Amino acid sequence: MPLIETDNLTKIFKSSTFSKTGITALRNLSLKIEQGIIFGLLGPNGAGKTTLVKILLGMVHPTSGIVKVFNENVTNYRIRKKIGYLPEDHRFPDYMNANEIMSFFALLSGLKKNDFDKVIRKNLELVDMYNYRDMKVKKYSKGMLQRLAFAQSFINNPELIILDEPTEGVDPIGRKAIRDIILELKKNGATILLNSHLLSEVELVCDKVAILNKGELIKEGVVEDLLTSADTFNIICSDMNDEVINHLLLQNKATIKNKNEFSIKIKDYSELNNIIDFLRKNRILIHSVSKDKISLENIFINLLENSNVKN
Ligand SMILES: Nc1ncnc2c1ncn2[C@@H]1O[C@H](COP(=O)(O)OP(=O)(O)OP(=O)(O)O)[C@@H](O)[C@H]1O
Ligand SMILES: [Mg+2]
Repeated sequence: MPLIETDNLTKIFKSSTFSKTGITALRNLSLKIEQGIIFGLLGPNGAGKTTLVKILLGMVHPTSGIVKVFNENVTNYRIRKKIGYLPEDHRFPDYMNANEIMSFFALLSGLKKNDFDKVIRKNLELVDMYNYRDMKVKKYSKGMLQRLAFAQSFINNPELIILDEPTEGVDPIGRKAIRDIILELKKNGATILLNSHLLSEVELVCDKVAILNKGELIKEGVVEDLLTSADTFNIICSDMNDEVINHLLLQNKATIKNKNEFSIKIKDYSELNNIIDFLRKNRILIHSVSKDKISLENIFINLLENSNVKN
């Protein structure tokens, strides 16, 4: 049974300012997210990612369709005890420090008073904020605020963690640390829903992704499958001479990367083997043959361009 399930979910924001018909933030979205995975929700600004997150949390009510979390209706407030949430554009009161903010969230989450110090220390240390626990939030940098917001999102040891742009404003070292913690949370059994614009980052941590555009689902799948192209191979070998390179260019329409590497689109495996035979006949040593990797960024941009052309 999926942990999150939506069926034909639609959200129309009524807005007299922009149009009489309102803004369709989500249109007939059907999605299933299984337990124990890191699921990436991608899409350009305004695609509907945050709207979906808010619907899952019961903060925004859908216009139509079905939405279930833990197989329960999202209006059932009891399920929220099992959820951790890092909102986008969060604000903490300026006059509080990290310790006080974490204590506030610990209290809200129903953590036992005796465990406060231990859990707060552990979470703040994880995000490298323990040394700043007594400093007021108004003195924090963007990255420090974000790390604090991340630390509170799993204070209740949640089964589902929803992170809306968790690495916004965080430097590369901090981002790596956040990625490592996300992977650790998954190892401990949590399911993570991650909204992010940083596609290289999503590529590194997510098991599955869904791409939204203008409220519609335009692609969904296992990251590994999306990134490997079924029919394009990358070959690394010893130095090729001009004659070999010309042959590969003309006969096989190869893309030559340098004299030791090229990629090739094949019709079937016999074509790939013929190319290897040709290289061996020319005394070229094969170092590796691998399926070509495409970056998530390229997939994303291509999909969006196609989807926008259709609309
Ligand atoms: N409370 C609201 N009232 C009216 N329109 C809204 C409201 N919240 C969101 N929208 C609209 O719904 C659409 C989707 O917004 P949403 O915030 O879900 O996008 P997003 O994918 O999270 O974008 P971003 O990447 O910029 O965070 C946008 O057109 C937005 O203007
Ligand atoms: Mg958003």
